[in-house]
Amino acid sequence: MEKLVIEGGVPLRGELKISGAKNAALPLIAATLLAPGTHVLYNVPNLRDTRTLLKLMEELGCSYEYNGSLLKVDTTIINHSEASYELVKTMRASVLVLGPLLARTGAAKVSLPGGCAIGARPIDFHIKGFEHLGAVCKLESGYVEASISDRLVGNTVYFDIPSVTATENLLMAATLAKGITVIKNAAREPEIGNLIDMLISMGAEIEGKDSDTITVHGVRHLHAAENRIIPDRIETGTYLIAIGATGGEATINNCCPAHLPALLEKLREAGFTILEDKHSLHIRSPRSAEGKLHVMHTNITTRPYPGYPTDLQAQFMALMAISDGASIINETIFENRFMHVAELCRMGADIKVDGKTAFVSGKGDTGLLGAPVMATDLRASSSLVIAGLAASGKTCISRIYHLERGYENLVEKLTGLGARVWKER
Ligand code: UD1
Repeated sequence: MEKLVIEGGVPLRGELKISGAKNAALPLIAATLLAPGTHVLYNVPNLRDTRTLLKLMEELGCSYEYNGSLLKVDTTIINHSEASYELVKTMRASVLVLGPLLARTGAAKVSLPGGCAIGARPIDFHIKGFEHLGAVCKLESGYVEASISDRLVGNTVYFDIPSVTATENLLMAATLAKGITVIKNAAREPEIGNLIDMLISMGAEIEGKDSDTITVHGVRHLHAAENRIIPDRIETGTYLIAIGATGGEATINNCCPAHLPALLEKLREAGFTILEDKHSLHIRSPRSAEGKLHVMHTNITTRPYPGYPTDLQAQFMALMAISDGASIINETIFENRFMHVAELCRMGADIKVDGKTAFVSGKGDTGLLGAPVMATDLRASSSLVIAGLAASGKTCISRIYHLERGYENLVEKLTGLGARVWKER
């Protein structure tokens, strides 16, 4: 199995380009199922997760061409409506095909994702949403089967918690429903805005982009269209933190700073200088009078967008592990999302967890020491990469297939910034 080896202690410098957002590419690819024809998507990241979804699209009967970041998906034929356990177990977001398949073909069968490393993550909101639109849903042998006798019918759906993929799934289904659907307490992540723009370009009628109430006026048919995936805000945030944790200075291009309000605020609180343009960011690290990296301690609490993203919690913890004092990290979105703590502690970090709260005593000048560690989930893995880049000595990260789910060309991008990092068998 491949490992990632990092020789830390090199301040990252230079420029890098951000890829398209994984969490936007997945719903946008799923949305192509809503209308027959050839859909064109630009800026699609080549990741394990996007490839998994394309494999699933093929199983449903669709075909595609994928060159560089340009993806053409032909959804003229759908001759299968099942997402198997084999695929769903490797990527929970496969559940995103449920809404579009149901709306277009009248039936869909998707394996239940089950538990995952960061918690139980049920799909009850998705199911409740489809039932409100008139679908009959049953759970059998580990699968959810949804069907409609005629057409979905618009209704008002309220989510207890703003769920990203449940909002997306319901939104897609509602575009072809009869009448008006109102989604209340909808999630407001920028990836949902990207999906709404795509659905509108396909002929859907939707109001309430970027708000927690989305209204969909159902239409009879949608058509294929061309769309562009937004820049990956989590990848952007991960590199910003990595550059900061090594005491570096760099420019990040092809990104959208407006999608990272909470992280930019927190990095500024921690002493970093950040210059923003519409599509680029420049970060400079704070230094003490002796010229050493001096990161101020600061607290974070994860929240739905525009709050601090849970997908950047682990990375920020790695930064706080080398800060000048004590910080508190509250994880309110997922239970069990502190799997990286034990691994960071192996590198010398001083972190204690009590329920949903982690107490980090920053090591300041002492810093972290490289060690063999194990990646447990996608974002936890990137926090280990950050810790390895910031630490002195060698860090060896095993199970890096997690990283490949969400970071395009990670080694190349880091090497381009001067990092000493490579893969080894
Ligand atoms: C999406 C993102 C993921 C991110 C998460 C939170 C994609 C492909 N993935 O995941 O990277 O970490 O948002 O920003 O976009 N919940 C329920 N029942 C449901 C659905 C969700 O109880 O049916 C709960 C979850 O357990 C969690 C909360 O709602 O506590 C939010 O989760 P949700 O927004 O649904 O996460 P995902 O859409 O799976």
